[in-house]
Amino acid sequence: MQDILPEDVPLWKKIESAMHRICALYRYSEIRTPLFEFTSLYKRSVGEVTDIVEKEMYTFTSNTESTPISLRPEFTAGIVRAYLQHNMHKQKAFQKFYAFGPLFRRERPQKGRYRQFHQFDIEALGSPSPYLDAETILLASDFLNELGLKEYKISINSIGCPTCRAVYREVLKNALIPNKDGLCQNCQSRYDRNVFRIMDCKSEKCRAIAAGLPSIQGSLGAQGSLCPGCKTHFDKFRGALDSAGVQYAINPQLVRGFDYYTRTIYEFTYPSALGAQDAILGGGRYDNLIEELGGPKLGAVGFAAGIERIILAMKNETMIERVVEKHIQKQKQNVLFELAISDNERKNAFEKAMFWRREGIPADVDYENRSFKAQKKIADKADIGFSDTTGPDEIKTNEHRIKSMKSGKEIVFKLYDLNIEQQKILKIHDKGVRAHKEGNEPEAIKYYETAEMKLNDFFDKSFENALIFSRFYLNMGISYRNVGKYEKAEEYVKKAVESDRNYALALFVQSSVYEKLNKRKEAINAFMEAYELNTNTLSWAQSEGNKEYFPQEFLDRLKSEVEKQYVYDASGTQNVKNPMSK
Ligand code: HAM
Repeated sequence: MQDILPEDVPLWKKIESAMHRICALYRYSEIRTPLFEFTSLYKRSVGEVTDIVEKEMYTFTSNTESTPISLRPEFTAGIVRAYLQHNMHKQKAFQKFYAFGPLFRRERPQKGRYRQFHQFDIEALGSPSPYLDAETILLASDFLNELGLKEYKISINSIGCPTCRAVYREVLKNALIPNKDGLCQNCQSRYDRNVFRIMDCKSEKCRAIAAGLPSIQGSLGAQGSLCPGCKTHFDKFRGALDSAGVQYAINPQLVRGFDYYTRTIYEFTYPSALGAQDAILGGGRYDNLIEELGGPKLGAVGFAAGIERIILAMKNETMIERVVEKHIQKQKQNVLFELAISDNERKNAFEKAMFWRREGIPADVDYENRSFKAQKKIADKADIGFSDTTGPDEIKTNEHRIKSMKSGKEIVFKLYDLNIEQQKILKIHDKGVRAHKEGNEPEAIKYYETAEMKLNDFFDKSFENALIFSRFYLNMGISYRNVGKYEKAEEYVKKAVESDRNYALALFVQSSVYEKLNKRKEAINAFMEAYELNTNTLSWAQSEGNKEYFPQEFLDRLKSEVEKQYVYDASGTQNVKNPMSK
């Protein structure tokens, strides 16, 4: 079991967001199944004579019920159960799922092997196609590549179908006769119950014996091949990997510790960063499981990636610092720290922190009874953007004393001045809009210029880019645009965009302003940035009220840009960046 501490969370988030992105591109839908299932499900799917079921499951019964349940040791069985239980196969046999979450196996803990660990799992149910096997490998590779992991090795194998395996079972049994007594106790009993499992026993002596056993591909027939159906499947699967340029090795000794596999199996290892537990991902085809769990005869394939091991591999690469650094950078933007000069102001500082949070600005306040000096030290820390000091004077006058930690500059204003001043300036500016509507352009401009003057009087330049004023700048920008003062609009909207919020609406308005200024390239870039933050921007652009700023020909161009750069995710929303557009 492992705790995931805050410093590692950025890596987990990166992995999760890569997973969601890649699964949307490959059109897998997320499914969330329970943490425990009836034990019988795992016995029927993973197999009674497997390490997982025999030794590793956490199985219990409740005080009142005698049917045993087990904490899930893997995802596949639960996902197939859900697919059948909810009759999903009847609506559409072919369905692709992915899942993320904790699994539980009572294994001997060591580096990379834990009793609670996490997997990213995919399952494509309802197709026997060998190209689907290849798709899962390509999805896995894209996922790992996106995480910056390059050193992984792919091993593939085919373990055939029940027909091939019936023959192979006898070959194995015969080959084991001379060494039978040398096997561990468990494997001696497996000899009759499930001879294949001897191949993945973890005991040293069994591993030595298993290494000398014939592989399925080397044991069948004079030409050492699988049955014709399985061989064709394997060849097509390999052909698809070859044409996609995937580097892999065929490992005829590769076995997997689950009974449900048929035909294709594979494993991704990361030898350069992990010790003995170097498998970061494993999977394969299971063409009989759906039927064995009470469904129709349908093929399926999937894999699971071990997140803890992927994190160990990522930590071995230098890009981890970049991930964490980027996350910290993002967090420290504009955090405002409330400083109370003495205990008397703590309540006010607390209230002010609440005020800022409700304004959409991350704010913090001291809860550790620190002295004013000690509070200031905290505010000097890298992740704080502004401080807001409250002493007896500020309480009396109802003022904010805001200091930018970056520039050291300070401004003071009354608690509600910000809104009142904005309201006043907006009122002047509204008069301008009215004048404009009445066709009195010079009058409109006069009002706008007065508004601007007041703006400059009130707001300290050093806070131009501060989040707190971005909304105001945007309003000004919109107004200037609406009266056709596009240069002015450009200036103000730019300020709004440059504020750390960088929100979709500001970028959207910026796009319309650029268009009016005949800066088509900039207009498209701003729009695409807005779209990335909010896919609704496309419908905003199409709305009646925006006709003037988004003429048909510009709209068509934006639509084609969206088509080029984005694909639909599994839920039907067109918000996933198309990697082909890079
Ligand atoms: P698995 O090989 O047992 O396959 O697990 C997949 C990955 O989970 C392993 O490669 C490893 O990275 C990670 N893993 C497994 N056990 C542990 C552990 N105790 N501690 C840390 N990481 C671990 C399956 O689970 C199959 N259900 C995969 C699959 C899906 N096959 C078809 N569909």
